[in-house]
Amino acid sequence: MSFLSIKNIHHTYFTKETTTTALEDISLSIEEGEFISFLGPSGCGKTTLLSIIAGLIPPTEGEINIDGKKVTKPESTIGYMLQQDYLFPWKTIEENTLLGPLITKTKNNQKRESARRLLREMDLLDVENLYPSQLSGGMRQRVALVRTLINEPKILLLDEPFSALDYQTKLKLENLVSTTLKNFNKTALLVTHDIGEAIAMSDRIFLLAANPGRIAKTFLVPQELREEKPFDARQHPSYSKLFQAIWKELESLEN
Ligand SMILES: Nc1ncnc2c1ncn2[C@@H]1O[C@H](COP(=O)(O)OP(=O)(O)OP(=O)(O)O)[C@@H](O)[C@H]1O
Ligand SMILES: [Mg+2]
Repeated sequence: MSFLSIKNIHHTYFTKETTTTALEDISLSIEEGEFISFLGPSGCGKTTLLSIIAGLIPPTEGEINIDGKKVTKPESTIGYMLQQDYLFPWKTIEENTLLGPLITKTKNNQKRESARRLLREMDLLDVENLYPSQLSGGMRQRVALVRTLINEPKILLLDEPFSALDYQTKLKLENLVSTTLKNFNKTALLVTHDIGEAIAMSDRIFLLAANPGRIAKTFLVPQELREEKPFDARQHPSYSKLFQAIWKELESLEN
């Protein structure tokens, strides 16, 4: 039995005038510790799929199981990180990172200590008492990641978390996030528009086609690339071959 199973997910949005089939028959199995990426055109249902896995939207059909248990509502085993960091501007960095424990009433000194440790691991030193507006975009994204990790989720859902950042910051964060998630053996699902990022970070890549959203193709990232940190994977000889293959496939999907 796989760790995360996505079984025959169909999803249709109904409004007064329209119905949109966002997802059609998505099935996949993901092992614990795997890093998965979803690539696909705008509107192919990537965010819808993550929201269904997170338990935020009940799918029209199908089910999600984590560790054999059906997902029916948002749970702390799943961490969801969005494109924007959504830090509360009126709270300090420490208060922001401890939001989860505050809500679940588990905020204590041990959590405070873990927050500090995670911030240090993310190269954020002496920022606890600052406010989000005093940090750069990349720093805020790292704080948002600490806020997600503090709840000790088993699965991380990352919806274009680096897309608002400049290229250099993005490359640095890819390395940092990849190393951190590997150290904690976290399972991660990343949505991205960046083919390179998908190759550099993942074990497997799913290409989605649009209207309705469905899995068009799966790529296995070769072992020699998986062993490298994202930055080094981008320089590896195998990288450009896979890049070309995915590029070609995406082009043919668009036509
Ligand atoms: N709340 C909603 N009500 C109605 N239709 C919706 C809703 N949310 C999304 N859709 C539609 O469902 C489809 C999939 O949307 P979704 O946001 O999942 O795509 P996406 O792949 O994340 O796109 P992007 O890459 O632009 O973020 C689109 O056609 C969108 O218009
Ligand atoms: Mg989206």
